[in-house]
Amino acid sequence: MATRIVAVGGTIGIMGGGQLGRMMALAGRAMGLHTVVWDPSPRPAGEAADAAIARSFDNSQALAEFLEQVQHVTYEFENVNVETVRAINEVRPVFPPPELLYISQNRLREKDTARRLGLLTTPYGALDTESDVRRAAAEIGFPAIIKTAEGGYDGKGQEPVSSLDEALAAFKSLQGGTRPLIFEQRVAFEREVSVVVARDQAGLTVTYPVTENHHAHGILDYSLAPAPMDETLAFEVRQQARTMAAGLDLVGVMALEFFIDQDGRVLFNEMAPRPHNSGHWTIEGATPSQFTQHMRAVAGWPVVEPRLMLPSAMVNLMGESFMNGYQDVYRVLNVPGAALHWYGKTEMRPGRKVGHVTLVANTVEEAFDGVKAVKQLVRGTSSGA
Ligand SMILES: Nc1ncnc2c1ncn2[C@@H]1O[C@H](COP(=O)(O)OP(=O)(O)OP(=O)(O)O)[C@@H](O)[C@H]1O
Ligand SMILES: [Mg+2]
Repeated sequence: MATRIVAVGGTIGIMGGGQLGRMMALAGRAMGLHTVVWDPSPRPAGEAADAAIARSFDNSQALAEFLEQVQHVTYEFENVNVETVRAINEVRPVFPPPELLYISQNRLREKDTARRLGLLTTPYGALDTESDVRRAAAEIGFPAIIKTAEGGYDGKGQEPVSSLDEALAAFKSLQGGTRPLIFEQRVAFEREVSVVVARDQAGLTVTYPVTENHHAHGILDYSLAPAPMDETLAFEVRQQARTMAAGLDLVGVMALEFFIDQDGRVLFNEMAPRPHNSGHWTIEGATPSQFTQHMRAVAGWPVVEPRLMLPSAMVNLMGESFMNGYQDVYRVLNVPGAALHWYGKTEMRPGRKVGHVTLVANTVEEAFDGVKAVKQLVRGTSSGA
């Protein structure tokens, strides 16, 4: 198919109004690309875009308005309705392609796909009935995690289980039988990593350095890049991301999450068809950033092998730290190499990502020291949380 290009001065439509859309819009603007955000509550993305359509995704008037204003379309969250995205793709090219979105909306589909493309995954099985639970318990064993196959994020819709009784209880509490669930072996991983991969319409595929991720309460807490790990293994992780990107006809940016187990095996966990929280360090730490790379690819422009500027880290700023105010969050800028990214959310809620800090340093150890210093300062802000 001929390359479909949005020229400088053209407009990209973004479905979704969160921080990822905001950072896409900011990156696009620097290159002369306009953006229109469509989301019933379009802050924080709408604040950075040229226009926002603050109406529901099933409003046909809103759809018509959106289509009229944009040339290409992307999305910043994967729970957008795939039927709507398919319909849009008939009249305005959507990147990444709808089929890739469809696969990434379901943990079973994405793990099946990873296996088909030759990657290893954690042993897993679909749970539709209680007898599936018994079979998974016998064949896969414990400890395990039962997750909703669709709609989960930030560790939501997951229950760790250690026995058949617990598994049967989790099957009930997660509403097994009425919606698809997945039973996964719980990996005693040595390290948890992710990689951002970008691909353009010409098929050029590039990867970012592997990122090491640390979670707290199921939510990404901080990331270090490049991951301080064996170089051969890191190369293998990037290679697997390239395989997935090519196998899925990616155009745009996507992220893949992996576990490295005790035997040094790389196990695919899940993917996201968009820039990813674990890639936020690339805003200061690499050129181009994951957001710039994404907008380039969505516009039909070439992607480029990213250059690492400096070893980096990223630490998330969470709503619970700012329940009593966020006016003095700028104090994190006392940490050398720190850059503040504040999303402009007005409501601070526990477990809500409200900003992040990236750190560049001469070594990844030094960047990690910066993470600790930022956390210390956040504890000392007006909230005292
Ligand atoms: N099979 C597993 N074995 C061990 N740990 C796991 C397993 N599955 C998930 N986890 C842990 O829980 C975290 C969240 O799980 P997962 O990435 O599958 O869900 P998510 O809700 O989509 O998360 P996010 O939105 O943060 O990417 C993982 O990053 C990992 O730390
Ligand atoms: Mg995840």
